[in-house]
Amino acid sequence: MSYRLLKGKKGIIFGALNNQSIAWKVAERCHEEGAEFILSNAPIAMRLGELDELAEKTGSEIIGADATSMEDLEKLFDAAIAKFGKLDFILHSIGMSVNVRKGKRYTDLNYEWLEKGWDVSAVSFHKVMKTAWEKDCMNEWGSILGLTYIAAQRTFPDYNDMSDNKAYLESIARTFGYYWGERKVRVNTISQSPTQTTAGSGVKGFGGFLAFAEDMSPLGNASALECADYCVTLFSDLTKKVTMQNLFHDGGFSNTGVSMKVAKKYDIIIE
Ligand SMILES: NC(=O)c1ccc[n+]([C@@H]2O[C@H](COP(=O)([O-])OP(=O)(O)OC[C@H]3O[C@@H](n4cnc5c(N)ncnc54)[C@H](O)[C@@H]3O)[C@@H](O)[C@H]2O)c1
Repeated sequence: MSYRLLKGKKGIIFGALNNQSIAWKVAERCHEEGAEFILSNAPIAMRLGELDELAEKTGSEIIGADATSMEDLEKLFDAAIAKFGKLDFILHSIGMSVNVRKGKRYTDLNYEWLEKGWDVSAVSFHKVMKTAWEKDCMNEWGSILGLTYIAAQRTFPDYNDMSDNKAYLESIARTFGYYWGERKVRVNTISQSPTQTTAGSGVKGFGGFLAFAEDMSPLGNASALECADYCVTLFSDLTKKVTMQNLFHDGGFSNTGVSMKVAKKYDIIIE
């Protein structure tokens, strides 16, 4: 169902890889709500070719950019400005840890890999915002969003160095968000439930963890599509004064100590 909440709004969506990606669903929902946008991803991811289908479906242009490269980001933003003039929204839906990919334990991190993952998953959010800031290309009441996970606040062992990357990402949203206030632009992160995507499935034992989070969340896990709906509200004019926040979108997981479903599995009696 479309409410035309984003009619006339222009943006950039980073991170749609395939139709499981959160950014893919965000692009579909933004399109339904009347927005126009450029789709961007790392050149290596674009070679897989799946993004063409999304571009066609949403009438969008694809412009590749490694989000850790200031040179790529400059070119992308110049093209976006040439196409749209100023922008109303940016989605940063990017994450990757080399240590997770290669199965390196947190107690034995490879620091070169750590730096790479930190740059891709966290610093790139600063780089994206710095590029937009320097080009002064955001409209007043624009909205910038990043995606994060609760491992930034609580320990989930197999999330590994991504926990630290997410803590850093959330801090960048708060800190840069303060400065964006001068320009009447808001910056937030959404802390999403575990979601079955390429990045999500990279975490060891992910399937079991999905089921655990489902049982621990009074409303159940939030799906990628539900996350996309939430992004739409945060890009819309209905949330103008929400900024510098980490917003949990997780069916209540973050505030649940133990649920009845989990308690029953361990014979814990809750009256
Ligand atoms: N899936 C989950 O369980 C979950 C939960 C909470 C938060 N998140 C976050 O949501 C975001 C999107 O992840 P997803 O789950 O949709 O998985 P995904 O694998 O579909 O998306 C990750 C994207 O990051 C892109 N990327 C990697 N390196 C890049 C680079 N150098 N430059 C530009 N793009 C690059 C990938 O190509 C991919 O499109 C990530 O920030 C992730 O950490 C995911």
